[in-house]
Parts: sequence; structure tokens; C-alpha cells
Amino acid sequence: MPETTWWKRGIVYQIYPRSFQDSNGDGIGDLNGIRQRLDYLAWLGADAIWISPIYPSPMADFGYDVADYCGIDPIFGTLEDFDRLIEEAHARGLKLILDFVPNHTSDQHPWFQESRSSRTNPKRDWYIWRDAKLDGSPPNNWISNFGGSAWEWDEATAQYYYHAFLKEQPDLNWRNAEVRRAMYDALRFWLDRGVDGFRVDVIWHLIKDAEFRDNPPNPAFQASQAEINRFIQVYSADQPEVHEVVGEMRGVLEEYRERVLIGEIYLPLERLVTYYGKDLSGAHLPFNFQLIQTAWNAQKIAALINEYEAALPEGGWPNWVLGNHDQPRIGARIGPQQARVAAMLLLTLRGTPTMYYGDEIGIGKVEIPPEAAQDPWERNEPGLGLGRDPERTPMHWDGSAQGGFTSGKPWLPLDPHFRSRHAEGLRNDTGSILTLYRRLIELRRQHPALSVGAYAQVKTEGDILAYERQHGSERLLVALNLGHEPQTLPLPAGASGRLMLSTLPDRNEEPIGAQVVLRADEGIIIALGV
Ligand code: NOJ
Ligand code: CA
Repeated sequence: MPETTWWKRGIVYQIYPRSFQDSNGDGIGDLNGIRQRLDYLAWLGADAIWISPIYPSPMADFGYDVADYCGIDPIFGTLEDFDRLIEEAHARGLKLILDFVPNHTSDQHPWFQESRSSRTNPKRDWYIWRDAKLDGSPPNNWISNFGGSAWEWDEATAQYYYHAFLKEQPDLNWRNAEVRRAMYDALRFWLDRGVDGFRVDVIWHLIKDAEFRDNPPNPAFQASQAEINRFIQVYSADQPEVHEVVGEMRGVLEEYRERVLIGEIYLPLERLVTYYGKDLSGAHLPFNFQLIQTAWNAQKIAALINEYEAALPEGGWPNWVLGNHDQPRIGARIGPQQARVAAMLLLTLRGTPTMYYGDEIGIGKVEIPPEAAQDPWERNEPGLGLGRDPERTPMHWDGSAQGGFTSGKPWLPLDPHFRSRHAEGLRNDTGSILTLYRRLIELRRQHPALSVGAYAQVKTEGDILAYERQHGSERLLVALNLGHEPQTLPLPAGASGRLMLSTLPDRNEEPIGAQVVLRADEGIIIALGV
């Protein structure tokens, strides 16, 4: 794959469809709403949009419980709306990536209804059914990611079924060849409609231990953690045979031109990179969540970038993610000043960046009152702060009621700052975070050094994270102050340069001599040798 491939040079923008734009006043975002905002996305400079699930679903996990892989939920619109969306996206040069949820279906999916109807039903083996232990307890100690046993007793057929997430999300049996065929056909259904790729939900979960052995206890477990952490997930995920499945999915995409396979994988680096597959026959982009999981510390992040670069297989293309619909927002985690520095980091690292809607307008910490809680995880394990509603609140478009998101009652409350912090206002404000995001994206597009250039760490101490990006004769120095005190950084020996961009608004292009002073919470990009 050449360096010019769209998913290598481009920026992915994640849309949580319930919260992007409502077009019909029911308080829930939809496909026509997304279509109305395509001009904004093109203006911002996104290259691709990834839309979280829009398939028919009882919404027990807000679309990650799919009842039909080849349709659109009426809440989001119709297949005609989808076709119109993709056509208008493509007309603007925007690619469209769908979320594919292969590990589990909804318990309302006709396949599961059949499977649970009797032990002899032809689809029985499409899901994971096991007998109880002699004392009636579940087959093993596996825990659901949303708390409680991962096994649900089915009275009618007197067996347990396995669900890694909610009991309304039974796991498919990916060792069954018919399941694979049916799911690959679902991929083709969307690829034939012009979809440019998939983000595959929990791809590392697809194959479980053939013997269903107990997971070992986790000695570091603390009661303040989600229950899933009670055991180390040795047998319930990341099994060697999963790579065959990933390779087959990739094979389906290879039947088409320039489609991208992105895998959602929460694993340590050395495990994560195995998902590129043997000879890069697996996922193009195994999502790299390390920036989300690492403390906001310059030395730790510098070390992490080096480890990641070193762990990548030959030819494997890197990628970086700063937020998504399952993780506290970056603005909530590190505050508004550092969120600007984080934007510069994300958009100047080597590899494909994925940004999360709303981060570009600086949505921060949003309190969701208990009575407004929607996320099933919050309801299953309350009080631990596990709920994902705070990062799913509606986008703010303008200063009108409900930020222009809906004319009705929004399904989740908006960030109370919405009246002063909205896209329409911020785009005309040269000092805003939105303007910063747009300039960073523009700069990345103009300078291949930033997107595809080589990466080299610049050794520093304390709160400064500095690195060089280089392509052809161009050398760019990125220096980020992750602290709240000014810092001085000497330029590389003999070099001088010119400031291209600061995360703070009041610094113009200026020549830089032997050293540069970074103000508190400031990040800068310097073109060296010019
Ligand atoms: C990961 C998704 O991102 C998350 O939102 C969902 O709850 C689980 N997978 C289950 O599908
Ligand atoms: Ca709607």
C-alpha cells in the first residue's frame, strides 16, 4: 500500500450518531442529521467519518446489540437515507466507515431466537451454549464486561448461553463456518453500497478457549474496579485462532478497492500489534488506545511512542486515538488547556489519527444526574464511575435552545456550557480550540512530514515532549509543554527555524533562534532550517 492511501494520510472523525444532529425532533441524532452536517466535516478537514452502529437494534447497548446486520434502525432513518448520506459524503471527498459488531448479536436477532428455540435447532451452534455444572452453577468463572456472570441460564432449553457483554448481547460462535459465511455476507452487503471500511467491535473477543477453562484470578483486583477485572482474561479473549478470522475479514475487503479494516482492541502493545497479522494480512489499523490509557506525563508518553514505534511490524501503519464513546473525554481528563496540547499531539504523530466528535469544540466534563443515566453499564455497576454517558452528550452547533442539536428533548442532557461553546461561535473565533483543530488538520494535509514523515524523539526532561518529523528535505520540530510552568527548549545543534503554529492564539509566525521558551500549557510546531 503506497503512502498516499487515504487511510494512511487521512484523519478519521468518529460520530456517535445518537448525539450528532437530530433532524426530526425526537431528541435522537439520525442519518439525515449527519448529512446536514457534512459541510461542517469537510470544512474541518476530516477525511473519513466512522459512524457507531446504526442497524436495527433494541438499543439495550445503544446499537451494539444488532438485530439485523443489513438494515437501518428507524430511529436513525432508512436505507434510502443511508444511500443518500454516502453519496453526499463521497461527493465531498469524505469516506464513510461503518461499525461492524460481529462478536455478539441482540437477543432479539432472529438467529438467536431460532438458536434458543430448541437444542436441535440448526442455529443452536451459532451461539455458545453449555450445560450447567453438576451443582447448577455456570460452566466457568467468566465475567461479563458489564458485571456479573457472563453466563445466562435459559429455562426453556436448560442450558447456559455466553455473553461477554449484556445478557441481551449473546456471543456468536465464530468457530461455526455458517456464522462466518453469514457475517462476511453482511460485510459485502455494505461494501456493495459503497462503504469504505469497517471499525470492528471487540475484534479480539471473537474466539474463546475451545475448552472454556476458568480465567485465573487477578491479584491486583480492587473493589473500586469494574468486576471484569476480578480475573485475567487469559481464556475468554485474544486466542490464537482469532487471527484466522481477522484474515478472512480482510480477505472480504480485498475483494473491493481501497477499503480499510480497523480493529477495536484493548490489549498491551505486544499483543495489540499481532493484529496486523502475519505478513500484514490482518487489520490495517488495530486501534491504538495507548494515549487514552497512559498518564498525561511527557516522559511516559515519549517512552510509549518509542515502544509503539518499535513494536510495529515491518510495514505496519501506526494509528493514534484520543477519545471515543467508551472513554472519558480528553477535555474532562486533562482540562481545557492541555486538551489543546493533546490536539497537537494527536495530529502531529506518525500514523492515522482518530478524533472524537465534540473534542474539537472542547466539550469537557459533563455531570449526568443519576435520573438521566442511560448507559446500561452505569446501571449494572452503579457508583464506580464506569458510566459512559458523560462522553456521549449531544454536539453543540449554535447558541439556540439545545445547541441546535434538536428541537425536541435531547436523549441525554447537553454540557451546560453549550450556549457559549458551540461550533458556529468557535469557528469565527481565531483563538478557539476549533480553529486550532482546523489549522492543525490543514497543516497536516499540507506537510507530508506530519502525516507520513519519519518520527524521531528529541531527548528532553521534565514536562516537555519533543520530537521531529521529517520527509524529504523538510524537518519539523514539535514541542509540547505538558506542564503548567514555562519551559525552555534548546533547538537541535546548529538549527534555527520558524514557528509555524502554537496551541495558544497570540503567537504569530516568528523566527526561532538557538532556543525557544514554551509558555505554560503551550505546544508549538517549528519548521527547522528555514
Ligand atoms: C465496544 C463498544 O465500543 C462499546 O460501546 C460496546 O458497549 C461494547 N463493545 C459491546 O459491543
Ligand atoms: Ca431523530
